[in-house]
Amino acid sequence: MTGKLYIKTFGCQMNEYDSSKMADVLAESHQLEITQVAEEADVLLLNTCSIREKAQEKVFHQLGRWKRWKDDKPNLVIGVGGCVASQEGDAIRRRAPYVDLIFGPQTLHRLPSMLNDVNKTRKPRIDISFPEIEKFDNLPAAKSDGPTAFVSIMEGCSKYCTFCVVPYTRGEEVSRPVDKVLTEIRGLALQGVREVNLLGQNVNAYQGDIDGEDQADLALLIHYVAAIEGIDRIRFTTSHPVEFSDSLIDAFAEVPELVSHLHLPVQSGSNRILSMMKRGHTVDEYKDKIKRLMEVRPHLSMSSDFIIGFPDEQESDFQDTMTLINDIGFDHSFSFIYSARPGTPASAFVDSVKAETKKERLKIVQDRLRELESQYSQKMLDSTQRVLVERVAQRQDGELAARTENNRVVNFVGDKALIGKFVDVYIIEAYSNSLRGKLLADSVIL
Ligand code: SAH
Ligand code: F3S
Repeated sequence: MTGKLYIKTFGCQMNEYDSSKMADVLAESHQLEITQVAEEADVLLLNTCSIREKAQEKVFHQLGRWKRWKDDKPNLVIGVGGCVASQEGDAIRRRAPYVDLIFGPQTLHRLPSMLNDVNKTRKPRIDISFPEIEKFDNLPAAKSDGPTAFVSIMEGCSKYCTFCVVPYTRGEEVSRPVDKVLTEIRGLALQGVREVNLLGQNVNAYQGDIDGEDQADLALLIHYVAAIEGIDRIRFTTSHPVEFSDSLIDAFAEVPELVSHLHLPVQSGSNRILSMMKRGHTVDEYKDKIKRLMEVRPHLSMSSDFIIGFPDEQESDFQDTMTLINDIGFDHSFSFIYSARPGTPASAFVDSVKAETKKERLKIVQDRLRELESQYSQKMLDSTQRVLVERVAQRQDGELAARTENNRVVNFVGDKALIGKFVDVYIIEAYSNSLRGKLLADSVIL
């Protein structure tokens, strides 16, 4: 089969990563070429997210539109993957019998054989099992797409925060063996990748086998990755405060390749709410970890996630969250109104908070977070930043787009030959979403 493949992706970075792997496997097995134009595709895939909102409805809405295209193109193949497929696979089969492929986050490597079956029998195929880590052993070697890359180091989550569907949709934590991760990163480095983002739902619970005997934690893995020729920047997402171990704090002290930026979701600044969420730590314990990190990395920029309007969140709980935000002074953060997820313990909690109140609180939080973010950008004015040049800038001819350690885009005038290199730029302007810089005449080019 040749033809075109279109993938629509909802959700987190892990889903983005999985979508790129779907494209890779189907390019290899069926020579399917990726397209950005859904109308011209022969295979349409929807990679779904169920973390918030009426995700299921969004899926059926999209599928309804694609179904109509099948009338004119009877051989069109429609597939649904990701977390909604994992949780609602049977419901999708019942409500949308025209869907040909239903697969979960752990079975995307089986797409080629599932697609063969569909082409042969024209009957739907469903596989939403959790075959442990098999997926990674059955994917083509990673291809680079510019100087930065995501590398999945583990799957699933075993923390079971009371509000979260991830453990149910992606399964329990399973770590990839160290040599598999390092082989993938070495291959990417040979293709010019300079920065890797180690991905997982709870990466600091990483326990990867070394030669089938010992195990490496995330800190040790980071040491190994830093030793790879060409890799000069390392990020990781997402980590949970409880498993943020001393060894990881030491890694920030010892590994200069580890960026001075950390996404450490706290969700709430109220101990009462944290306990109802089963996060396993208090506000002071969170602050203490950050204090110790700041001792080894004084310029660490922090970001976080916040859930607003958790069941029974009182005004005082909300004020505690605002206090924490002000105390830490986050650089950049995400905040969401709590959304009850089917099958999670919190969905059974009595929720006394009015929708109106939740919206008001979200606005207050988001205004404050935006203010802090822009203060952070202002503070970067007149500073020199080492940036990784990623690509030609979209808006301005002759400009390049690069990224700072704390993930801000900097545009500056420079030669295309600098793409994939680290250079020093002086920040001359700060806008809401980006910075403008000037390449320093005596900049080292690494
Ligand atoms: N593994 C990560 C991210 C999980 S999902 C972690 O441990 O933080 C990303 C973010 O979505 C979470 O940090 C949380 O802030 C938010 N989220 C998860 N479930 C939610 C729900 N039911 N309602 C609202 N926000 C939610
Ligand atoms: Fe979800 Fe908590 Fe894991 S937010 S992904 S259950 S750490």
